Amino acid sequence: MKPFYVTTPIYFLNGEPHIGHTYTTVAADSLARYKKARGFDVKFLTGADEHGQKVEQAAAAAGITPQEYCDGLVAKYKEIWELMNIDYDYFQRTTGAPHMASVARIFKKLYEQGDIYKGSYEGLYCIPCETFFTEHQMKEEKVCTDCGRPLERISEECYFFRMGKYQKALEAHIAANPEFIMPASRRNEMINNFLKPGLNDLCVSRTTFTWGVPVDFDPGHIMYVWVDALPNYVTALGFLSENDAEYKKYWPADVHLMAKEITRFHTIIWPCILLALGEPLPKQVFAHGWLQIEGQKLGKSLGNAIDPRPLSAEFGVDALRYFLLREFSFGPDGNFTRANFINRYNADLANDLGNLLSRTVGMVDKYFGGTLPLCAPAPSPYDTDLAALATAMITKVEDHMDNLRFSEALAETWQAVRRANKYIDENAPWVLAKDETKRAELANVLYCLAETLRITAIAIAPVMPATPAIIRAQLNITDSAFTTWESAKHFGLLPREVRVEKGPAAFPRMEKAQ
Ligand code: MSP
Repeated sequence: MKPFYVTTPIYFLNGEPHIGHTYTTVAADSLARYKKARGFDVKFLTGADEHGQKVEQAAAAAGITPQEYCDGLVAKYKEIWELMNIDYDYFQRTTGAPHMASVARIFKKLYEQGDIYKGSYEGLYCIPCETFFTEHQMKEEKVCTDCGRPLERISEECYFFRMGKYQKALEAHIAANPEFIMPASRRNEMINNFLKPGLNDLCVSRTTFTWGVPVDFDPGHIMYVWVDALPNYVTALGFLSENDAEYKKYWPADVHLMAKEITRFHTIIWPCILLALGEPLPKQVFAHGWLQIEGQKLGKSLGNAIDPRPLSAEFGVDALRYFLLREFSFGPDGNFTRANFINRYNADLANDLGNLLSRTVGMVDKYFGGTLPLCAPAPSPYDTDLAALATAMITKVEDHMDNLRFSEALAETWQAVRRANKYIDENAPWVLAKDETKRAELANVLYCLAETLRITAIAIAPVMPATPAIIRAQLNITDSAFTTWESAKHFGLLPREVRVEKGPAAFPRMEKAQ
């Protein structure tokens, strides 16, 4: 099996996870599930970025140790990921002993080969984003260009990483691998804003607080939190440890997912570290847009962080996952509103998919007492169109999913769902049901609907992992031969004698926003 390795950022522990973190994590989970369905040997990493000054300060304010503070928030993250059906392989923590040992070795190796040297730093720093800014990057106002918060002035002895030394190699890599930084707009931004002006050496240690990975050959220093965090993607695989079999198997990562504000860390700093270590670069860094509320990044200030728990309790976990990936195109920013969620839920889930399921099951129940008979073939003139659309849909979904076009993949699937609803109207089963001589035609219509639902269940499974079981329970599909990804490319696989089990509405309608 071909390996496939996908990652989310490891999130800062400055609060509980909100819908913004959920967005990236659901995307990564859906991609991982999709690749598994296609037969890949998948590893999926998420985790927590635990060190740094603001964690130290927050723990002190709460009167607990930084470790206790981190443990509490990591438990929240894990609880929410479990609720959201996130099936990760690694929850990487930067306070884990193996990670700390491995990054300490990375730091020492770079120092010993002359890529890290001692100096002193004077400049501006954003504590929440953990970002350095030089005076000349700043305009009048001394605020962070990412989050807009005021910057601190720092002046301290530190170690520097000779990042500039790897600029040419990085530029060559970017030029030779157009898919390395995606979308293309981000690639251009990195080239124009950071590579063209030239890379400065990077400050990679701090001395004014202690919550971090100590520099073992100079104990007053701890590693800069990003240089501690970025290598998590390889330390999770055992890089520079005795057991590096997974590193050998799964690195380079196929894709690092994140939002746009941390593209620079992943496409400049991280690749330069890897180039210095002589290791391969990730195949792709994909930076999606921000979920926003009224033009402001969601979660940026305490006031607008949306908790995924009440939303999933109200709409359902699969509905929330669907909404996140269907509503927002993966790349640009998107506006998150409750009204849009309700509208999309009612249109796509309650009406299109939910009704298709309940109408199909209801009609098999009503017209055939719950089991379709095995009849002589009596095709309807619309069968070919429906079958062609449903099976072609799967190949189009593959192309979209392979290119992280989640919204387009779901839109394509819903074409088939809508086509099936139209097929009901075209064939008018309620009219066929009145004519005893049309039993075979009626059975065929209902069978074609069941087949479309079977195929739909396969297509939606990566994004909506719990819904296929609801569809399959109502259509009594138990044999795994009818649930594999490949089986969705064939219309007519299900045995004709479909037996249905009526169930509650999969997606009950929601009241319109007040
Ligand atoms: N700890 C660093 C990442 C280190 S990775 C080696 C960090 N953490 S963070 O908690 O600030 O998480 C940022 C990420 O959370 C974004 O890049 C994105 O994946 C996700 N999001 C947080 N808010 C978001 C939105 N409002 N919209 C979309 N994604 C959001 O940066």
